[in-house]
Order: sequence, then C-alpha cells, then structure tokens
Amino acid sequence: MNLPIRQDILELEDSKIVDVWRRGFGKPGLIMLGVGEGDLPTPKFIADAAHEALLEGETFYTYKRGIPALRDALAGYHKRHWGVDVADERIAVTSAGMNAMMLAMEIAVGDGDNMVAVSPVWPNIFATAEIMGGEVRMVPLQNEADHWRLDLDRLFAACDGRTRVIYAASPGNPTGWVMPLEQIQAVVEFCRKRNIWFIADEVYNRLIYDRRVAPSALEVARPDDPVLVVNSFSKTWAMTGWRVGWMVMPLGLSHVIERLLEYNTSGGQPFLQRACVAAIEKGEDFVAEQVARCRAARDLVTQRLGGMRRVRVLRCEASFYIMFQVEGEGDSHALALKLVDQARVGLAPGSAFGTGGEGFLRLCFAASTARLGEAMDRLEPFFS
Ligand SMILES: Cc1ncc(COP(=O)(O)O)c(C=O)c1O
Repeated sequence: MNLPIRQDILELEDSKIVDVWRRGFGKPGLIMLGVGEGDLPTPKFIADAAHEALLEGETFYTYKRGIPALRDALAGYHKRHWGVDVADERIAVTSAGMNAMMLAMEIAVGDGDNMVAVSPVWPNIFATAEIMGGEVRMVPLQNEADHWRLDLDRLFAACDGRTRVIYAASPGNPTGWVMPLEQIQAVVEFCRKRNIWFIADEVYNRLIYDRRVAPSALEVARPDDPVLVVNSFSKTWAMTGWRVGWMVMPLGLSHVIERLLEYNTSGGQPFLQRACVAAIEKGEDFVAEQVARCRAARDLVTQRLGGMRRVRVLRCEASFYIMFQVEGEGDSHALALKLVDQARVGLAPGSAFGTGGEGFLRLCFAASTARLGEAMDRLEPFFS
C-alpha cells in the first residue's frame, strides 16, 4: 500500500555515514572511527547530578526554555569564555543540537525557500531544511595546500530572494575548519542587511587546539540581529546520548521559540538539565583533559596518515575530525565500505557531506592513541 507520506519526506536520502556504520555493526574487532562521538563516557559527577535530581523527584514537565538554573549557568558560560552578555530571554535549552537546528528551520524555511550552507557539511543539517520543503545550496570550502578556506564572495553570490538562511558550522564537521571572526562579522552584517538568518553552529567551539575557544557569532552580533547560535552538551562534555543542547536567539524571539518548543517536545527533562548545570560549573577540568587527549590523537593521525604514500591530509584546527584524500580513489562511499570489510576500520565517506566532500574520508580521532595506532596499522597497507 502507498502510505500518504509527504513527497519531501520520501525524497530524504539515508545518511551515508549511517550506511557505513550499519555495514560495520556487530563485526568483531572493528575499529569504528566513522561516527561523530568520542569514546569517553560522560564524567561521573555529571551522571551523579542527574541521578540525584531524579531521586529528588525532578520528573515533571518544566520550563519550555529550560530550568532557570541552567539558563543562568549558560549565561555565565558565555560571559566567561567569550566575554558576552546574553540576556536570559535569549537562551533556550533544546533536545540537543539537532532539535535546535530543526526549530531554527521551522522558524526560517518554508516551501521553495533555500538555505545556503558552507560545505562539506554534516548531512543531518541539510536534511532539516529539506524536511521543511526547502532547497539546500552548498558553497564548498576551498582546500588549498593543507588547509580549508571560505570564499565569502561565493557564499554571498549563492544567496537570492528565496534565501532565508546562511548556515555555517565553525568549527566545522567534517573539516575542522574554523571561521575567522572577520568572516563571521561579514556574514552577520550581510544577514542583517538582507534580513535573513545566520545559523551559527558552534557545537565544537571548545574542541580547538591552538587557542582557548573558537570565535563565536555572539562576539559580533547585536542582540537583535537575525542570528541563531546552535550549541550542544554532546561533544564538549561527552554527552552525545543525553540529547541536551541550547540555542541563543535574538531579543524578541523567545515567545515564538517557547511556542515551538511546546509543540515539538513540550520542553526538556529537568533531571538532565541539572546534570548540564554540573557540566558547566564543574566540567572545565574534563574539557581540558579531553582537548589534550584529542590534540595528541590529532597529532598522531596527522603524522601517520601524512606518512602514507597515497594520502593527502588536510590540517585540522578544531573539532575531532580529520579529512584526507587517497590518490586514485574517487568513490569515497565504496572505499569506506571496502575498508570496513577488509581493513576492519570504519570511516565516514566524504560524499556524505555534500558538495566538496567526495574524494575525502573523515576520521573521528576522539579515541585512545592505542586504538588509533592500531587503526593506522590496519589502514597503511591500503593507502601505501
Ligand atoms: C556540526 C554539527 N552540528 C550539530 C550536531 C548535533 O549534535 P547533537 O544533536 O548531538 O547535539 C552535530 C553532531 O554531530 C554536528 O556535527
């Protein structure tokens, strides 16, 4: 029977990252480095805070935009790390970054509208626009020598009268590219002038290796600019399975977001939000340890891959991903499937990330150096 499913939904493609993950699922001894999460469990002090809140009965519906204690902690977090004052009414706790993205699209994109996105880009992002009936226009980063660079003229030239959103993740997934503050400023000004949204996805902004934090759109946006900053507890505090994130929105939007939150999730889980307060207030040592561990891991994989004859590695400034090309291998999806079967290493195919991704593989290096070293040993014969 033909079920009455909307055409936009029928046309959604399966994520090729998930496809490779499925191929590897249950394969004994597989080293899966194709998925976007680290191997460390959430720190105990964070889990304990959730446990205590549960036992204390924090199990009821709560504030749509999140418990006041968490909004308060988030305001302090933005002040401490980026020196910005964010009014309480601009903060909304969401069911992780994905839900924040979906809410942003519900606000911004309708049938026939378009979103201009810096690519390669995580496929879930373009799916959110497509679900709304929008078109996604990708503007690929250039990769010159060993680094990624955005041509702002190309980004702006891709916008037309139906553009409602410019999206950029900085630090980027899958590239680890960091958008310079001057470029962020130029995009904010462009969006202000055109009255279109800038969605600044900053979920990796603490996983950066040459400075303390990545630049944020909040440093240059005025409180009433059409800028939505998407963030998450997933990566910074090793909480991918918790599904808690937040967004910072312009003044005047909170009633709209509250309504949408009501109709999407009816608000988040208060006991999880208590744990997020603990993450923010007591989590800095963990973040520092995670960054140090990832830095060592990045250096190891950059050096090992760089030493393989057919490999071209691009520099990773931030996030926990590295992108590389293998000479003579044009079909990254087929290559990723072959590596699962024959090398027993899972990597994400670059073609999953839209324009500019094909020909690359993405490796998530948030793992122990022992495991990464073993993965490199297994890959070497295939790339030499
Ligand atoms: C660029 C980017 N944005 C947003 C997210 C959403 O993460 P979550 O929904 O776990 O908060 C991810 C996750 O991989 C990501 O890579």
